[in-house]
Amino acid sequence: MEFENILVEREEPLAILTINRPSKLNALNKATIEELHQALKVLEKDNSIRVIIITGSGEKAFIAGADISEFASFSLSEGSQLAAKGQELLFDFVQNISKPVIAAINGFALGGGLELAMAADFRIASDNAKMGLPEVTLGVIPGYGGTQRLPQLVGKGRAMEMILTANMIDAETAKSYGLVNHVVPQQQLLHFTKEIALKIAKNSPSAIGKAIKAINANFKDGVNGFHEEIKAFGECFATEDFKEGTTAFLEKRKADFKGL
Ligand code: COA
Repeated sequence: MEFENILVEREEPLAILTINRPSKLNALNKATIEELHQALKVLEKDNSIRVIIITGSGEKAFIAGADISEFASFSLSEGSQLAAKGQELLFDFVQNISKPVIAAINGFALGGGLELAMAADFRIASDNAKMGLPEVTLGVIPGYGGTQRLPQLVGKGRAMEMILTANMIDAETAKSYGLVNHVVPQQQLLHFTKEIALKIAKNSPSAIGKAIKAINANFKDGVNGFHEEIKAFGECFATEDFKEGTTAFLEKRKADFKGL
């Protein structure tokens, strides 16, 4: 896959997606969002890939937000379209993809950058990372799910303070808020993230996909997460992975999951 704004590296069973506009601090323009959508669509269908890592190129930024130069002159309807299209193509897509997505936050994760990290299944930050939703300094609000996902992750009070003050928090504060799971030195960020990803990749892909769906059900309006869990739990019993996992345990060997 060749793209202009992102790099796609396959290190089976992992794929690393790198937003690659370092001169613009990896700001998310329309083309980058579309490329990420295309790449994720392909990786979701690729059986040799089990975990996807998203990071930013360079040492300064993960993503410094949506590309301000692209939307500065937008009208009301263009603004609504921007948020709707972005959420559909990227942010909801990342949240709902059946494969685990980990955000490796290597620097500034602001606005749409933090929103993309929050759409991932979990986040690991380098010690220089800074996170925030500064949209109100521009006269706009977070439009890629930030007003919804930030309170889910850090609680309403902290989300209110972060969004209303537009303050950035450092990596250790983000960890204390539960916004990131780990903080590591920048040089170790990808290695550390890959180690966790490889651990996940050893487990049953079909069970992992169902676990992601059941956990996300807790945050969907009008969906009973407990019912979703019961349904998904039952479905596991019809999978090859379940047969392989239980048989391997009883035969005292390591399971060789095929994701079927
Ligand atoms: N959209 C478009 N371009 C951006 C951008 C964004 N969100 N964030 C950074 N850039 C560009 C800058 O315009 C600059 O480009 P230039 O060299 O062509 O002028 C380049 O990236 C480097 O950024 P710069 O501001 O010079 O770096 P800095 O170290 O002084 O500051 C930040 C870093 C992250 C504090 C600052 O870039 C910033 O505040 N960015 C915007 C963050 C934001 O509001 N995001 C939410 C958008 S909804």
